[in-house]
Amino acid sequence: MKTHTLLMPLDMHLHLRDGVMLEDIAPLSAYSFSGGLVMPNLVPPVTTKEELEAYKERIMAAVPNDYFEPYMSLFYKNYDKAFLESVCDSILAIKLYPAGITTNSEGGVSSFDIETMKPTLQAMSDLGIPLCIHGETDGFVMDREAEFMSIYELLATNFPDLKIIMEHITTKAAVDMLDKHKNLYATITIHHLIITLDDVVGGMMKPHLFCKPIAKRPEDREALLHVALSAHPKVMFGSDSAPHPQHKKESCGCAAGVFTAPIALQLLCEVFDKYDALDNLQSFVSDNAQSIYGICPEFKEIVLEKVPFVVPHNYSHVVPMYAGETIGWSIQSVE
Ligand code: NCD
Ligand code: ZN
Repeated sequence: MKTHTLLMPLDMHLHLRDGVMLEDIAPLSAYSFSGGLVMPNLVPPVTTKEELEAYKERIMAAVPNDYFEPYMSLFYKNYDKAFLESVCDSILAIKLYPAGITTNSEGGVSSFDIETMKPTLQAMSDLGIPLCIHGETDGFVMDREAEFMSIYELLATNFPDLKIIMEHITTKAAVDMLDKHKNLYATITIHHLIITLDDVVGGMMKPHLFCKPIAKRPEDREALLHVALSAHPKVMFGSDSAPHPQHKKESCGCAAGVFTAPIALQLLCEVFDKYDALDNLQSFVSDNAQSIYGICPEFKEIVLEKVPFVVPHNYSHVVPMYAGETIGWSIQSVE
């Protein structure tokens, strides 16, 4: 039987939510991952040191049986340097959302005016705090990410020592940016390595595959696969696993987000195996993130096997990608 071992897998873009949802969902990531960069788009968003620390405690309390490091992030606002100094040891990154572009992002940035943002971004650069960005404009939905490239270029050239992570990239345009600016990095989800827009709306509409940014064209997926499968040193795995209650997905105003946390490693093995690239999966799912963020997670070893796994119809009222379907790989053991 074919098996594959992963050490200290990391999910560098993860929504854990809060309350009962947090308690139901966090253990699923904690079971198979060593740690994850937790997104701050709660309602209201995480913007103070007190909220950050209290949220981290709630996450730790939700995963009592597993070692899991919640790497915390703060919701971007134009913070001053004194505040950033006080909080920089408690966070791994700051996450910037354009206002209103996705779930719970209403308090985000409404104008990318460099002069206004300069004190915060320069202080982040000085303090070594990476900036994670949801890079989409408010343009036509298929063009939003490509249109955002000029903003990435503006930020990357004005703050050459600031590490900027292009989150959940979905286009060839974003892939092409990686080698253009030394301070640009990216996360890639598992679903964007598998689906295109055709899978979402080409036949019957699939609400559980609807997310922001929306899946794009086959040539975009090819470009993503190229850098993921070769474990380009500037790309990392970030699931963007975004749970919503079933009734909010299967509704006339479908919430954006694909829930993949409990099947992410199995799907990664399936895709990397399909393209004969399993040797590069360790870098994509852990080593690259360790070097980019300078983190050193506690030991965890996951053995996966090429044995079919029937994905549950739901996990506590959240429907995962491939619910009720059979995928090619399973988790054999976790140590
Ligand atoms: C995310 C969510 O639900 O919080 N949704 C999504 O479609 N990815 C927000 C985000 O990361 O855009
Ligand atoms: Zn997200």
